[in-house]
Amino acid sequence: MKRFSAARAAFCAGLLAVLPLTSSLAATGKFVGDSGIELDAPYVPTPQPIVDTMLTIASVGKDDIVYDLGSGDGRLVISAVRDFGAKKGVGVDIDPVRIKEANANAKGAGVADRVTFFEKDLFRFDFTEATVLTMYLLPDMIAKLRPQLIAMKPGTRIVAHDFSIPDWEPVKTETVDTATIYFYTVPAKK
Ligand SMILES: C[S@@+](CC[C@H](N)C(=O)[O-])C[C@H]1O[C@@H](n2cnc3c(N)ncnc32)[C@H](O)[C@@H]1O
Repeated sequence: MKRFSAARAAFCAGLLAVLPLTSSLAATGKFVGDSGIELDAPYVPTPQPIVDTMLTIASVGKDDIVYDLGSGDGRLVISAVRDFGAKKGVGVDIDPVRIKEANANAKGAGVADRVTFFEKDLFRFDFTEATVLTMYLLPDMIAKLRPQLIAMKPGTRIVAHDFSIPDWEPVKTETVDTATIYFYTVPAKK
């Protein structure tokens, strides 16, 4: 069971303003997705101009394998492959409704052969293959992921929408409308 912390409550208050009406909070403090499953973060899609800026900041190109943790309707990995020429895109989302949507969107975008969406808990998912990792997750989720992020291959680029990685100085931050994008590069191991 997850503690519903003050920070999480404050964040959620902000997010709730833009939440789809289908999302709600369970007694555990988790969110309830469209499929009725409990989520650690609600589904709020990243607007396309922010998607484009995130992928531009990360300099996504033909040699990249782009992973999105909590991939929603798949827009980040679909854009990475379709618009930036990434060789492969991988998304993971715990909500089967999102996975179905993402697969349909990939098919519609003509990139179904280069993107894969896994219906899994991102905390039990291996993303070490990524050369670029994107995420739009709650602060407590990012804090929990931090050891895995730091341990990624040196040179891996990480782009976070609105919520930064604690105690890690971003290489760059950029503001698009009301959103802040944080860009990190995994340093060489000592
Ligand atoms: C804020 S949305 C971001 C969607 C997408 N990345 C984007 O930027 O448009 C967070 C996503 O994380 C998913 N999610 C929440 N908890 C999860 C978990 N434990 N494992 C995998 N996905 C999760 C939700 O279903 C939702 O689609």
